[in-house]
Amino acid sequence: MKASKLHLRWVLGLSLTLAITVVVVIGQAQPRKPDVHYVPTPYHVVAEMLRLAGVTPNDVVYDLGSGDGRVVITAAKDFGARGVGVDIDPQRIQEGRANARKAGVADRVQFLQQDLFETDIREATVITLYLLPKLNVQLRPKLLGELRPGTRVVSHTFTMEDWHPDKELRVPGSSSDHAVYYWVVPADVAGIWRWSVLTPTGEERYRLRLHQRFQEVDGTLSADGAEVPIANATLTGDHLRFSAAIGTLARQGLVAFAGRVIGDTIQGRMTAHSGVSLAQHDWMAHRDTAQ
Ligand SMILES: C[S@@+](CC[C@H](N)C(=O)[O-])C[C@H]1O[C@@H](n2cnc3c(N)ncnc32)[C@H](O)[C@@H]1O
Repeated sequence: MKASKLHLRWVLGLSLTLAITVVVVIGQAQPRKPDVHYVPTPYHVVAEMLRLAGVTPNDVVYDLGSGDGRVVITAAKDFGARGVGVDIDPQRIQEGRANARKAGVADRVQFLQQDLFETDIREATVITLYLLPKLNVQLRPKLLGELRPGTRVVSHTFTMEDWHPDKELRVPGSSSDHAVYYWVVPADVAGIWRWSVLTPTGEERYRLRLHQRFQEVDGTLSADGAEVPIANATLTGDHLRFSAAIGTLARQGLVAFAGRVIGDTIQGRMTAHSGVSLAQHDWMAHRDTAQ
């Protein structure tokens, strides 16, 4: 009786040890699988993507899911940029490194074997993608949260759903056209902004209320009690422009406002054409952070 109890305990203990060992070994031997299979972007499409992004030697191009490294290698070789390729598949990383050496750009291109969702992308000035629609949408909060306003994003074939592209083009392919989409990461401008300017008739106080959906902006501007909708609003990176018929400058029509967004301030010029003369003022708005 005692012997069979001992035997049972021994069997249970051994099974538990085996089960733990199997879990640990499987856990180590199976790194996370790629979220999308490797399919290379044709070289002539790579060139159009980098051209659309306006890549220059001042850029740092990150290809998230870099495959054989062709995007970042082309960015370094033909556009003079620095490149960082990120891929989760070790075989792709090896290919990328070997291809960079062959192309003579190993000193300007780096490959990271990582999950692109966990990669630090803050230094990128250009991001390139060839993933899947759902991965682009999953990546959106990271792109908008980590990248500096003005960073360009280019995607082969796939959109970002309701983050509409700033530009798009079709590149002819062997069987069909390749769609290429381009976005500029917008600054955060939502909220209420206040400033005042000194005009020949006294101090004018402005309050700008902005609503934002990615780079699409609208809102109202009020000065001295009157409130009007803003028109022609554009937000490209940290450059905000709009116009409004308001204030003493507006006697002859719309006043054009242009400014650069830096955190909770906007600094720029407001301009009104009246006949042949031009009236201009600097403006510096502060976001109302107490709302
Ligand atoms: C469609 S290929 C694009 C390759 C390259 N960007 C191009 O345009 O030629 C997608 C690449 O993403 C990689 N990948 C998939 N999921 C990933 C992840 N979570 N993190 C990093 N790379 C990933 C795959 O291994 C594959 O090489």
